[in-house]
Amino acid sequence: MSNDASRTHEAFPTDAPAVVTCGLPYANGDLHIGHLRTYVGGDVYSRALESLGQSTAFVCGSDMHGTPIAVQAIEEGIDPEAFALEWHEQYAETFPKFGVEFDNYGHTHDDANRDLTYEIVDRLEAEGYVYEKEIKVAWDPVDEQPLPDRYVEGTCPYCGEHARGDECDEGCGRHLEPGEIEDPVSTISGNPAEYRDRAHKFFKVSELSEYLDGFLDRLEGTSNARNQPRQWLEDGLQDWCITRDLDWGFDYPGEDDLVLYVWVDAPIEYIASTKQYTERVGADTYDWEEAWREDGEIVHVIGRDIIQHHTIFWPGMLHVADFVEPRAVMASGFMTLGGKGFSTSRNRAVWAREYLDEGFHPDLLRYYLATNGGFQQDVDFSWEKFRDRVNNELVGTVGNFLYRSLLFAHRNFEGTPEADVSEEVEARILEAIDDFEAGVNDYSVRAVGNATVDLARFGNEYIQREEPWNLVGEDDEAAAQVIRDCVQIAKAVAVLFEPIAPETSEELWTQLGESGSVHDVTVDAALEAPPRDFGAPSELYEKIEDERVEELNEKLEARVAEATADDAGTETDESDADGEGDVSDIEPVADDRISFDEFQDLDLRVAEIVDAEPIEDSDNLVKLTVDIGLEERQIVAGIKQLHDVDDLPGTKVVVVANLEKAELFGHESNGMLLAAGEDADLLTTHGDSPVGTKIR
Ligand code: MF3
Ligand code: ZN
Repeated sequence: MSNDASRTHEAFPTDAPAVVTCGLPYANGDLHIGHLRTYVGGDVYSRALESLGQSTAFVCGSDMHGTPIAVQAIEEGIDPEAFALEWHEQYAETFPKFGVEFDNYGHTHDDANRDLTYEIVDRLEAEGYVYEKEIKVAWDPVDEQPLPDRYVEGTCPYCGEHARGDECDEGCGRHLEPGEIEDPVSTISGNPAEYRDRAHKFFKVSELSEYLDGFLDRLEGTSNARNQPRQWLEDGLQDWCITRDLDWGFDYPGEDDLVLYVWVDAPIEYIASTKQYTERVGADTYDWEEAWREDGEIVHVIGRDIIQHHTIFWPGMLHVADFVEPRAVMASGFMTLGGKGFSTSRNRAVWAREYLDEGFHPDLLRYYLATNGGFQQDVDFSWEKFRDRVNNELVGTVGNFLYRSLLFAHRNFEGTPEADVSEEVEARILEAIDDFEAGVNDYSVRAVGNATVDLARFGNEYIQREEPWNLVGEDDEAAAQVIRDCVQIAKAVAVLFEPIAPETSEELWTQLGESGSVHDVTVDAALEAPPRDFGAPSELYEKIEDERVEELNEKLEARVAEATADDAGTETDESDADGEGDVSDIEPVADDRISFDEFQDLDLRVAEIVDAEPIEDSDNLVKLTVDIGLEERQIVAGIKQLHDVDDLPGTKVVVVANLEKAELFGHESNGMLLAAGEDADLLTTHGDSPVGTKIR
């Protein structure tokens, strides 16, 4: 059972209707497997809840509004609605191919969402939570047009990183209000932006800090989503601008030239989509009003870049408009590809469609995405790691157990032998059910997946230990007992693995001669007797050969190289621009250009020197203890003569964290400090980036 102290609600399953949502994808581009992580996570979670007997609606939809869509539609010269609808349809088709089956997949630009949005905005106004204020907004002085959100890029005023107009996506992750971004430049024209005064509507979030403080105490989910917002509360909440100068979106009621900010109507689609589900199945089956107005268990599954929206703005809106507050927010870490970021513009991605075209089963990727790391940890994908997880666990552990057990059962007993399940095996299956349930209550899809793999591992050990092949003909009753147990474990695997691997679990269900669908049963079915007769099994999972991996890696590399070469040709050389003064004393810039990807290979981190000690036998070396956020490192640096060693502790520095270890004068050096020139002038950061921050 779960021992997570952060539990504040009654454990799942409860009698209330649950809503599981996934962050709405902007309808503006192809999905890659990095995107799929949160959708698979949400799907696993909602299936697992249902398996526990919790009535659950799993809803989502496409995010059609906002500048991400508007900007791209302009670039492609089409109408934003047509542009977004096309992507919407593609998403609606793609998700089910990965077993991500929403009970309703809507989109934000339809009437259901429009009506609810106006209802909620009216409510915010009526409660006195909206006011108008004149603010400065970014403006293109050449094109004479306002530049909201993603129409501009610039520098984050909080952390100094390069940022989008509405979000510090590469740095501290903060939402940025209009006018906050520094040095704004238009993403459309490239013109430096100016600021103009405009009247906008604001939502009084600042008045909700007491409510939100209590809300965060109650909030369950991953710890990143529960802890990060604390800081924002402590820093003091600002009111939130809920309108934009844009002509794509829902018009602000009574204002001709303002639309609602996309982040107002987008999460409302969570409700609208639930409502559409009820309209389809009837309120007796699932009642959206009970869920959202009375006592629903609302679980939001999102990427960690949108925690603020889901733990501050959205619960604030729900609270004022008198809807049920979220019970939990599960925020996933990012995904990397072979240790580096996905880059859609550089074609450095494994595309969702490509994965399927390569002939891989969706359940393999689902397993990988759900279990390759904790949900809030960053997860890396490589074809090698994918092969290893599939071959070792799905083929080697789960598939192997199932196939050998069921084949033996079929050949020797034509199905399930007549016997009762042994106490030992019954207890082990109960333990797996407990692990599964604890995983759900800990918001850990990984634990949900591991519950089954561990059970299958037990199954392999059990059959190996009991050697039924030696019992047949010697002690048939004993052989029957072992195989009876194994068939029960196989059935439990089908039931408990359904959230992770829905399609192969259904296949297994059918192999066991079961009728109906494994999707409709609850975890109790894991201990119910399987049918008497079943036919010859077939293998559920197929091994991935090394040659395949090589082939796939080559394809990916070739594509990235091509895309990078294309980029290089079109990029202007900016280094000439500041070629000022006498350069003769300065080392010329290296002729060999490195690619951005090569630069990305360097893991540079902000760090702090905690301790410094001269190395006796050396003129120049100092032994440093350096805090790189994740751990403390010993680094040996040649800076003794250039710095006062006693002054070094407390100094912020920049280190190469992934340099090969070296030994200097018998001391291990695990990393390198960056320093400029003969004086070993130590590099540091301009702002307050905490230790561990990655430098890019
Ligand atoms: N489209 C947004 C994004 O990709 C997410 C919207 S989630 C919702 O960042 F809460 F607004 F629904
Ligand atoms: Zn920032």
